[in-house]
Amino acid sequence: MATFVPEPYRIKMVEPIRMTTRGEREAAIAQADYNMFRLRSDDVFIDTLSDSGTGAMSQRQWSALLLGDEAYAGSRSYYHLLDTARDIFNYDYIQPVHQGRAAEKVLFPTFLSKGSFAISNLFFDTTRAHVELAGARCLEACNPEASDSSLRAPFKGNMDIERMEKLIDEHGADNIGMVVMTITNNSAGGQPVSLQNMREVHAICKKYDILLNIDAARFAENAMFVKMREPSCKDMSIKEITRAFFDCADTFTMSAKKDAIVNMGGIIGVKDGDAPFILKIKANCICFEGFYTYGGLNGRDLECLAVGLEEGMDEDWLRSRIGVMNYIGDRLDEYGIPYQSPAGGHGIFLDAKKFYPHIPYYEFPGQTLAIELYKECGLRACDIGSYMMGNDPDTGEQLHSINEFTRLAIPRRVYTQSHYDMVIEAINTTWQQREQVKHGYRITWEPPILRHFQASLAPVK
Ligand code: F0G
Repeated sequence: MATFVPEPYRIKMVEPIRMTTRGEREAAIAQADYNMFRLRSDDVFIDTLSDSGTGAMSQRQWSALLLGDEAYAGSRSYYHLLDTARDIFNYDYIQPVHQGRAAEKVLFPTFLSKGSFAISNLFFDTTRAHVELAGARCLEACNPEASDSSLRAPFKGNMDIERMEKLIDEHGADNIGMVVMTITNNSAGGQPVSLQNMREVHAICKKYDILLNIDAARFAENAMFVKMREPSCKDMSIKEITRAFFDCADTFTMSAKKDAIVNMGGIIGVKDGDAPFILKIKANCICFEGFYTYGGLNGRDLECLAVGLEEGMDEDWLRSRIGVMNYIGDRLDEYGIPYQSPAGGHGIFLDAKKFYPHIPYYEFPGQTLAIELYKECGLRACDIGSYMMGNDPDTGEQLHSINEFTRLAIPRRVYTQSHYDMVIEAINTTWQQREQVKHGYRITWEPPILRHFQASLAPVK
């Protein structure tokens, strides 16, 4: 039987949400051209479109808001964030930015340009876009275990070390601008990376003298998995595990909107405070984000971020967080519903290919399932599959994703067990009725990059 780990907090403020009728939802999704990003949130009952910036701040964070120092340069709040982040990651240089993709935009062009490549255990969508915007190309080497959703392996997010070395050989170490280790591995289903794998990647980067960057959006959830699953780490604290990971890398880019539980914020970290490229980071930051002591954030945001970084690493919190995913996963198991298993750190990734094996990748099974779930119960989820991957930047051809997932990304400290129970029942109804869905969707209009956010779709008849 599935059990729920109680949350280590209680609710002090509530935000009403409204259930709609099926007819209203069918009209709303058609009006949005079947694009989840174009729905109004008022037409959504349970919103799992993203776990990014959608968390609930704590009383300590709301109090911190009032302590924000809004000085243009050298604000007290900047130093508060600096001290906190240095203490956690042990990096000399900490650069606030307004979110994760801003970190990528500021850092990536320093190491990537036309003709060069970045290798990752999987890129998330905006990360892929920033590699390409810098003129470079993405190469991926994800643990092959991640492509089998029913295979219960502890570290499906790992880098495929053999393939990584092969890619370096093929393209030449001099042409690899950076390696990006995404922890947890979002596109693989929020699956963790082991410390051993991180150390192996570090050793290869050292051998070929390639910069290693951590995409650190969900570093704390990853550390909790490592503590639970990697026997040599079971007695380490979350902070010790975090330090061990960051010791392996040279830089990190972080969307603080996930594990640092703020609605807006990001960080770039550089281990070596004497690295000459810090000057470039500062220059880019001043041009794109704002002066380097605020990086596109209010002083009050910097305060909340400093507090959120600490709260996000609390072990009781992380246990209940992972507990939510396990609870949903266990209940889906009871119904025999396929998802990327074991459950990831920030969400449930339903295996849409197994819901709709007859729908080809170019009719977007993950998107099709997201639409069905919205119509069923007002849940907003999203495609993490071929629809999200988009087209090859050189040939324009639709890319074929290794997985076709429908992702329910669970916001932090927002929903309760009864919300999850309602969602699980709706998923089961959709599963029972899967054979009635004969076709997927086709794109009727799309912009040239990151098309999934804006594209228009129509049902395939
Ligand atoms: N890296 C990873 C692994 C991410 O998941 C995201 C965002 C980013 C970078 C970019 O950060 O949004 O702050 O600019 N992921 C969100 C998601 C949007 O829904 O998974 P950002």
